[in-house]
Amino acid sequence: MAKILGIGNAVLDTIFTVKHYPQEDQEVRALSKTLSPGGNINNTLYILNQLGHDCAICCALATDLEAKQILKGFKARHLSTAHIQTFIQGKTPSSFITLNQKNGQRTIVHYRELPEVTFEHFAKITVEKFDWLHFEGRNIENLAGMINIAKTFLTHQPISLEVEKCRKGIEALFNQVNLVIFSHHYATEKGFSNGLELLTQIQKEAPNTKLACTWGNQGVWFSDIQQKVQHIKAEEVHPIIDTLGAGDTFNAALIHHLIQKSNFKEAVSQANKFAAQKCTQHGLDHLLQKNHLKPIANIKHLSNAKTQVIKASENSPSILLIKYQNTIKAYVNNCPHQNVPLDEAYKIDVNPFEKTLKCSIHDAFFKVENGECIEGPCRNESLVKVDIDIDTKGDIYLNGC
Ligand code: FRU
Repeated sequence: MAKILGIGNAVLDTIFTVKHYPQEDQEVRALSKTLSPGGNINNTLYILNQLGHDCAICCALATDLEAKQILKGFKARHLSTAHIQTFIQGKTPSSFITLNQKNGQRTIVHYRELPEVTFEHFAKITVEKFDWLHFEGRNIENLAGMINIAKTFLTHQPISLEVEKCRKGIEALFNQVNLVIFSHHYATEKGFSNGLELLTQIQKEAPNTKLACTWGNQGVWFSDIQQKVQHIKAEEVHPIIDTLGAGDTFNAALIHHLIQKSNFKEAVSQANKFAAQKCTQHGLDHLLQKNHLKPIANIKHLSNAKTQVIKASENSPSILLIKYQNTIKAYVNNCPHQNVPLDEAYKIDVNPFEKTLKCSIHDAFFKVENGECIEGPCRNESLVKVDIDIDTKGDIYLNGC
């Protein structure tokens, strides 16, 4: 476990999930509204915390309701708040985010009316007690001084910098740090059409810095110190549920794997996978569970003509899985009629034309689509649904346990 200090922005995110992205002047109804502490540094530290590190955030907050909510979030995320700078005037940064349910893409409207962390505030932090410092590439006016003073106290601890947007003067920092992670927004704004072009150029200015550039579905480019630029393809992600924070996830995983002493290529590759996995779930909670849990099945072994009954754990009832159109349905293997497994007497009969399945005890017929009993002794009652997740490889996991 490492002690990590992150310096950047904390934001209160209000996330509206919508069926499709609205047009200008249209009114649409959101499917859900979620309030969540956000901001790149906050998200990255939260994931680093899930990866087992001890994290502290250095950011600016006002004294408003939004700040209170963010502070509550920091507590829940186990981030140390000892280095927050509070401003009496101003408003805590907030974002309104539209999350398109169709493709998982997020559109962010961000608002801030707050000073950035000052050099004097940062200078009071005992940076040498941390194992890694990660800066968001903002607040450029103060950043050069902060990195400079940090370097006078640090002996071996790496400094990383996230470069998401073009900001005047940011280029001067690239050779001051050990790792720079660029977004494709920065690269395109600078006129580069891929990460190879960008990193080849940056290498000239910062030959002793590790570089990475993420480019959504085009993958990641990276170069180790004095090495050629290499490329890793994007992971195939299906379905894409939520891309909000995918870049922050990449950054966290990259830092984590470098702390674990992986070589740079391996660290980038793992970060690429982890960021893709994040896109298959809502939010950033429990990101590790899928890594640790064993899949209960894979879609390629399922059909719409028979069920597969799985005993996922000793103490819970078995689960039945069945293909339905392009998705997988999962139900607790329990007939509501007499609370016995549907395959108590013999196997569960499936009628793929009627799209029904039948309990083997008293011939209750259930719709595969929603588990509703449409004929038999428990008509109108339903099988209990089981929440599952399917990853990019088609592996199926129980959700939330
Ligand atoms: C995601 C995010 C959001 C925040 C926005 C700030 O990367 O950090 O949580 O609202 O970007 O730019």
